Amino acid sequence: MYLTRDQERMLEGEEGEVVERMFRLLVRLGELYGADRMIPVSSCQVSGVSYKSVGDPGLEFLEDLAAKGARVRVRTTLNPAGLDREGWREMGFPEDFAEKQFRILEAFSRLGAELTATCTPYLAGVVPSRGEHLAWSESSAVSFSNSVLGARTNREGGPSALAAALCGVTPRYGLHLEENRQPTLIVEVEGELRGPSDFSALGYWVGREAGGEVPYFRGIRGAGTEELKALGAAMAASGAVALFHVEGITPEAGEVETGGLERVRVGRREVEGSYESLTTGEEPDLVVLGCPHASPGELSRAASLLRGRRVKRPLWICTSRRVKEEASLSGLRAQVEGAGGRIVADTCAVVSPLERMGFETVGVDSAKAAHYLPGLCGVRVVFSTPERLLEGILG
Ligand code: F3S
Repeated sequence: MYLTRDQERMLEGEEGEVVERMFRLLVRLGELYGADRMIPVSSCQVSGVSYKSVGDPGLEFLEDLAAKGARVRVRTTLNPAGLDREGWREMGFPEDFAEKQFRILEAFSRLGAELTATCTPYLAGVVPSRGEHLAWSESSAVSFSNSVLGARTNREGGPSALAAALCGVTPRYGLHLEENRQPTLIVEVEGELRGPSDFSALGYWVGREAGGEVPYFRGIRGAGTEELKALGAAMAASGAVALFHVEGITPEAGEVETGGLERVRVGRREVEGSYESLTTGEEPDLVVLGCPHASPGELSRAASLLRGRRVKRPLWICTSRRVKEEASLSGLRAQVEGAGGRIVADTCAVVSPLERMGFETVGVDSAKAAHYLPGLCGVRVVFSTPERLLEGILG
């Protein structure tokens, strides 16, 4: 792989032990995937932030990097942590967990990362432009930035995204290259999709069929931010889809070649099939909306469903701290809290220690959350629309 003089200096340890170690990791990755050189990245998004995901080894690794004075070279944001930094005690998060989680966040802060703790940085002020190269690791954010924003990132692991942040570059391969952004499968959508959870259910089915393909959707009309983030998150959860195109909607769809590709047809049957196959419980004792983290529009819709009523069971609407602050200013937070719900920032059910908090069945409007919650939190799930889920817990 071609390296510039500055990059050779990094590799030879002239910029310190941490940069040398991190740059070696990027070189190994590049060699593995046949990269010809490194490219500068404009931002990094690092996963592996929850203490639940990284445990003591992750905590010690990050504290060691921070103690050695390592600093990120580009704008770096973080995936959700394991708790809401402000509301954790009131919500019943365990003290020992919180202590470790705060140490992780402190280490990231010393490294220079922004403590955004969200899987939707693009709704919280980090909106890459078309063609920008990134090193993001949250799979739903990777999918959204590639597909909807037209930026370019591979699906990084937490360590490789952090290495890119500390070195300012990433190996040039995969979705950074024009030729790998062409569709490889046509998905013909038949029938109506009603809201983001239907897109999530559809994406779950497609992700299982598509694996690592680049799907090109036909027949989708009128999908906005919420629908596209739900579709991408689900395909990345059940498959390894990191880029998709939607005819007439996503920015690269009009420029790619679709001739001669295999086709699959999906419709209402597949959508209902996902709702059914992912539902393993009956009566939720907690409802969690906002996977990926809720947009202002989703908060507003939830607030209007809650208007004039009160929840009988806990309701979390997970979002970024930035969107939560906007909701405080716009009055949406007061509406949700007035109905007994809670806008939860910095975390999500999947990466929180839900298994230690006494919940048994969780209602979710996201196929991704429904996919991961049983295995990672030991709970049963009900996967449905926000309307149906809220109706079930409203008095
Ligand atoms: Fe985000 Fe958590 Fe879902 S990280 S995509 S809210 S599982």
